Amino acid sequence: MSESTVVHLDHPLIQHKLTIMRQKDTPTAHFRRLLREISMLMGYEVTRDLPLSQVEIETPMEKTLSPRIEGRKLAVVSILRAGDGIAQGILEILPSARMGHVGLYRDPKTLIAVEYYFKMPADIPERDVIVVDPMLATGHSAVAAIERVKSTNPKSLKFLCLLAAPEGIKHFHEIHPDVPIYVAAIDRQLNEKGYILPGLGDVGDRIFGTQ
Ligand code: URA
Repeated sequence: MSESTVVHLDHPLIQHKLTIMRQKDTPTAHFRRLLREISMLMGYEVTRDLPLSQVEIETPMEKTLSPRIEGRKLAVVSILRAGDGIAQGILEILPSARMGHVGLYRDPKTLIAVEYYFKMPADIPERDVIVVDPMLATGHSAVAAIERVKSTNPKSLKFLCLLAAPEGIKHFHEIHPDVPIYVAAIDRQLNEKGYILPGLGDVGDRIFGTQ
């Protein structure tokens, strides 16, 4: 994949579900279910380039060659806390993937990401890693998380989010041009507090019902 790649996940089901998630009156239970569903669909798209090899199997009728994902090992890395919402959906379709966590909070004054937790699977150098966070806003958290994950030397890296601001994409690819971004929608801009417009509000609060 070339440098500074942005893959727009424009599947109609993803777009339709995202529209419902954006609406302010969508209740927490519905929002969570949609996030799980949309994450499965995004997981399907983000794994589209996994290589297949032909293996010999035996159906009840006869022997045949059939495609199987090569012995690839995957890890999903969630940027806490909202990344867990996406990670759970992806693990539904990739049940043997391992999971890592990066805990970051945004300093409310500087909007800079501060790390408070980091735990990865031991064999990360053998794994293709998908880092997930629903919102790529300023890009500070994603940039810091990718930096930390890179320090563990993964085989490959992708970043998956629901919504991105143009400012976040620009910042992300200034620092990590080698990491492709998979995104369901690129919104207009950030507001002065670093929230995406039109966006969907505070995604953590909407997933966990904390507002
Ligand atoms: N984080 C959120 O939860 N929402 C935004 O719009 C930006 C960052």
